[in-house]
Amino acid sequence: MIPILDLKKQYHSIKKEIDARLQEILESGIFILGPNVKSLEKEIADFCTTKFAVGVASGTDALELALQALGIKGGDEVITTPFTFIATTEAILQIGAKIVFADIDPITYNIHPADIKNKLTRKTKAIIPVHLYGQPCQMDEILKYAKEYKFSIIEDCAQAIGAEYAGRRVGSFGNIGCFSFFPTKNLGGYGDGGMVVTNDENIAEKIKILRVHGSKNKYFHILEGRNSRLDEIQAGILRIKLKYLNEWNTKRAEKAALYNDYFVKAGLQNEITLPRANENTKHVYHIYVIRVKQRDELVEFLKSKGVSTAVNYPLPLHLQEVYKKLGYRSGDFPNSELAAKQVVSLPIYPELTSGEIELIVSLIKEFYAKKEN
Ligand SMILES: Cc1ncc(COP(=O)(O)O)c(C=O)c1O
Repeated sequence: MIPILDLKKQYHSIKKEIDARLQEILESGIFILGPNVKSLEKEIADFCTTKFAVGVASGTDALELALQALGIKGGDEVITTPFTFIATTEAILQIGAKIVFADIDPITYNIHPADIKNKLTRKTKAIIPVHLYGQPCQMDEILKYAKEYKFSIIEDCAQAIGAEYAGRRVGSFGNIGCFSFFPTKNLGGYGDGGMVVTNDENIAEKIKILRVHGSKNKYFHILEGRNSRLDEIQAGILRIKLKYLNEWNTKRAEKAALYNDYFVKAGLQNEITLPRANENTKHVYHIYVIRVKQRDELVEFLKSKGVSTAVNYPLPLHLQEVYKKLGYRSGDFPNSELAAKQVVSLPIYPELTSGEIELIVSLIKEFYAKKEN
């Protein structure tokens, strides 16, 4: 059996440090927004090369608080991709703004700058580029439009911590960068968690107030906030894992390169479209995604052989039942719709062995050999 991700293996590789940290936190009696959260905020800001970082309860909250902190409101338009996890767009609707979709680049699966341009109106107040699967969006072009048309950028970095565009870490390009520490992420906690990074002190301050019921001084509420606090246990664990993140991201990229090599050696280039990292980007392979025509059959075949896969994502957001009210139709975003039919995510994690990768590729070769006969 090869799982899509093996978090137990990762825990065992750092068990001593984690267990000691947990013990320390339990003994301290401080569980919410304590010294570990403070230190993690400093460490993540340094990691992302931003001035500020604010811990929140999840990546979804990070996006919503980011929009709120920027003053996005009802009637404003926010452009994003339909080929992402729904958290990206939930945040837009939650604050009462309008979702405007732009199609993806079929090679990188990221929002296509040319289509962003088609969707700009006078009501466009923000764009949320999502660095999907761990690959940064083309930030130069997005930044150029933002300057020209005067809108804000909120980077959805949930899948891409440590990824770089033109030598710079994601999260540091936009007005705000949002991260998720959901357990399966490249930097994942043992529960939910999230972080906002920014170079703007006023935004950081506002999010700090919003995350604790809109108060700066306890029981005196100056903004309409909520409870979106990061807890000490998550922060303590994440601080340990952050020390290994560069090494783990490098290993993921090595595994991806190994998959690519084995696929080429197996002569499967015609059947499979391999993931392509842009030249000016450092892809951190949160997910290793290939594209095939007989996707569902291949998924079933691999399952029968004990290999887990996933489909990220089987239905683009504009066609989701919940978004019928937005009035989009099939055919509106052809690149996203075709990708949703063809993408399949294969197991990838730092502990995955070259033997396991070789086995997965040989099984896929077997699948296509059977098809030919
Ligand atoms: C692209 C993207 N955005 C946002 C989120 C939301 O993060 P969370 O699950 O921490 O709320 C996720 C992950 O779940 C994601 O993959």
